[in-house]
Amino acid sequence: MRFIYAAVAAALAQTPAAGLIPAAVDLETRVTPSVMDCEGYGKSTAFYDNSPNYSPACADVTAACLKLNGTSIWSHAPCVAAATCQGTRSVVILNQCQNPNVLHIASIPNMSGSVYATIVGSANAAANAPITQQNYIDFVFGQMTAAGVTQWPTADYVISNWWDRITSWAATGNSVPYKDFVDWPHYSETDLDY
Ligand SMILES: *[C@@H]1O[C@H](CO)[C@@H](O)[C@H](O)[C@H]1NC(C)=O
Ligand SMILES: *[C@@H]1O[C@H](CO)[C@@H](O)[C@H](O)[C@H]1NC(C)=O
Repeated sequence: MRFIYAAVAAALAQTPAAGLIPAAVDLETRVTPSVMDCEGYGKSTAFYDNSPNYSPACADVTAACLKLNGTSIWSHAPCVAAATCQGTRSVVILNQCQNPNVLHIASIPNMSGSVYATIVGSANAAANAPITQQNYIDFVFGQMTAAGVTQWPTADYVISNWWDRITSWAATGNSVPYKDFVDWPHYSETDLDY
């Protein structure tokens, strides 16, 4: 928690000199969540959408995402996996809390093709094939392995708590087409201020 406080305090204290603002970045789309929000979301890490569903494996995947401290967060596989295991909102806000360059949710660049290829395989990605349940399970368990998870969820848990959320949002049946999966972290939380 302390490093989030420090990062937010530093961000608030900073008054960028005009010459230091990159011309290409629209400052309107930058967001600095409040210290209280950062603390709250920090505490609810790995609770899916603030529900009582806590997953220690998801906490490890989220930590792996935050460790990258990126800005194009949907181009980082651990961050995509983290969004699927605890919801988009908290992953966006936690990243904004530690890095003032993470844009508003609507302005964060779309998921990269390479992450999609990691999920479905490059041949399937080239053929624009949808993500199957098995693709998702392989992806998320792969990210959990990479994150050093020791307390594993069952595949049933992963399906009913994480995958089913995405398929019900996409409403495309048992698989999720590329366009919908890219749109999901972008649009599934449209009421978000951040
Ligand atoms: C993340 O990156 C931002 C921007 O470069 C920096 O200000 C911040 O200290 C970094 N935070 C961590 C936890 O590495
Ligand atoms: C992201 O993809 C959506 C369509 O899925 C598109 O409307 C939007 O312009 C894209 N955003 C960026 C920044 O490329």
